[in-house]
Amino acid sequence: MGATIDALTAEDLLAARAVLAEACRFDRAAEVAEEKLFGPSPHGHPVALAARLGGAVVGVAAACCDRVRVLAVATAARGRGVGSALLAACEQHVWAGAHRRVRVLDEPGNYLAPGVDLDNHETIAWLGRRGYVRRDEHENLVVDLIDNPRVSPARAAELADGCAARGYTIRRACLDELEAISAHVSIGFGGAWPFEIERAATRAPCGLFVAERDGRVAAFAAHDGNNRGLGWFGPAGTWPEHRGQGLGEALLIACLVDVAATHARSEIAWIGPREFYQRALGPMTTRRFAVLTRDAPHRRATLPPAMR
Ligand SMILES: CC(C)(COP(=O)(O)OP(=O)(O)OC[C@H]1O[C@@H](n2cnc3c(N)ncnc32)[C@H](O)[C@@H]1OP(=O)(O)O)[C@@H](O)C(=O)NCCC(=O)NCCS
Repeated sequence: MGATIDALTAEDLLAARAVLAEACRFDRAAEVAEEKLFGPSPHGHPVALAARLGGAVVGVAAACCDRVRVLAVATAARGRGVGSALLAACEQHVWAGAHRRVRVLDEPGNYLAPGVDLDNHETIAWLGRRGYVRRDEHENLVVDLIDNPRVSPARAAELADGCAARGYTIRRACLDELEAISAHVSIGFGGAWPFEIERAATRAPCGLFVAERDGRVAAFAAHDGNNRGLGWFGPAGTWPEHRGQGLGEALLIACLVDVAATHARSEIAWIGPREFYQRALGPMTTRRFAVLTRDAPHRRATLPPAMR
């Protein structure tokens, strides 16, 4: 008997979490199951799918916009076409949205990881056999927070003092200024960042920090803006006219000290300036991810009857 594919509902969350915990060896998918399967991104809400065998959830997937956000099948149910059926259903959702290319995982604003972990050879090969090609790579840096002399309240205070000497205050943001900061970030940086800082700021305690001078926000940094609850760092940005003053480093350490209260490590996700992070934090482990895409199958052009 083949699996049936239908909508994953809120009542399935526990079962879905169990599938993710068992199936996803490379990502902490179960801990962020609700955000990945049902949570919005700047592009809207995903379609969440369940594969059921004999009524039990054996596979889950979510697709949003042009991305397959997550896809997993319990090991005992593998090799029977369940993953292929879920992937095909995700692709149908993407093609129905008039996108011509589907990508796996790296959905701005709501990503389990910025691509498939390069160590996840089996899944990369499996996607390859289904027409997916590697287009790009992204990196996360993993920072150890236990007994790390570079991530201590003393260093955070020292860096904040240095900024204060240059006229900047480093502080945690307040909820009542979130709208203004978000609009400012939207104009200065755009993309998914306003969405992510809102997710970071609306947790307790607020995961958004700012550098302020003369009542204006000059830089910001956030943690738990994506994968809320995992303690990941990002996004962060300093407005061009305030760069080179140590604001980024002071905000990075302020965020990581916050994360260290509840986590043993943090991931700096989808990094841009690797040198900046290495200067601030020293040697770190790197995780690398493949961005995999597949183009929509070509539709045969059909001429209207009068032109045949
Ligand atoms: C990748 C993954 C989803 C595949 O799930 P699956 O259910 O085993 O997938 P399928 O059964 O469709 O495909 C597996 C093999 O079984 C074969 N198969 C067996 N019976 C089949 C059937 N009745 N219909 C179709 N395929 C069948 C397929 O041909 C395929 O072999 P191939 O890749 O050489 O063509 C699963 O391995 C998984 O959950 N991996 C970990 C999760 C993960 O890393 N996800 C990415 C991040 S979210």
